[in-house]
Amino acid sequence: MTNRDTPLLVANWKANLAPAEEVALAGQIATEATRRETKPGSLMIAPSTLGAVPVASLLAREHGSLQIGIAAQDVSALEPGAHTGEGPAPHLLGIARAVILGHSERRDLGETGALIGKKVARAVAAGLSPIVCVGDRDREATTEQRCDEVRAQWHELMESAVQSGSSLAALIDVGVFIAYEPVWAIGSGDAADPELAGRVAAALRGLITDEVKVLYGGSVRAERASSFFAGGGAARLDGLLVGGASLSSESLLDISTALGTSR
Ligand code: PGA
Repeated sequence: MTNRDTPLLVANWKANLAPAEEVALAGQIATEATRRETKPGSLMIAPSTLGAVPVASLLAREHGSLQIGIAAQDVSALEPGAHTGEGPAPHLLGIARAVILGHSERRDLGETGALIGKKVARAVAAGLSPIVCVGDRDREATTEQRCDEVRAQWHELMESAVQSGSSLAALIDVGVFIAYEPVWAIGSGDAADPELAGRVAAALRGLITDEVKVLYGGSVRAERASSFFAGGGAARLDGLLVGGASLSSESLLDISTALGTSR
């Protein structure tokens, strides 16, 4: 989906905007990205469920050369059928190529590792790249404790994904991303120390495979964005998942510029 040298910037718009506002913002981002000569394929937008279709069609119709990807913010754990209100993974094909799963804001609404694992399996079976979020909750924890917590989250959801017929090889094949999102950093204005993010990335690689792509998320701003890419080896990061700062074309593209994927 992205080569190792091109950091991926994922804009998670959450439920902040109505679909018409999302279409307008996508247009502004595309215009700004064109102006700044943003590297094709380096941006991904996760609009709301209702906004995904109009945003995807605007970007494909008018700004195809930027190759801005679309990620869904959730997917059903069920297959297509008589399930009122659900959004099954195969229905996203042609609209999204990835899906954010296991975000702490969804865990706060009651999603368990078991449910997240089922969703991961559905996404992978449909050929969508899961962006699987894991994150520790205690700002004061030691690095060891944080690593234990994210490892436990990963094990729990993977066990469920495997029970649902998926496998680690299938996840890797489809281009899984793991997003390390310390819960205390999300929306706080206070990002984690990039070195800490690198240590957790290394722990995740040690657990899964060196090949896995790891993103960082939690109060990313342009000023510190590049410092997340100082770490090399197993501590390297492959991109950023951005919430608040992705709600303006200027601040999102400032982050892209800081990463070297825009002028
Ligand atoms: P934030 O959100 O950038 O607003 O902290 C990040 C996220 O929740 O993915």
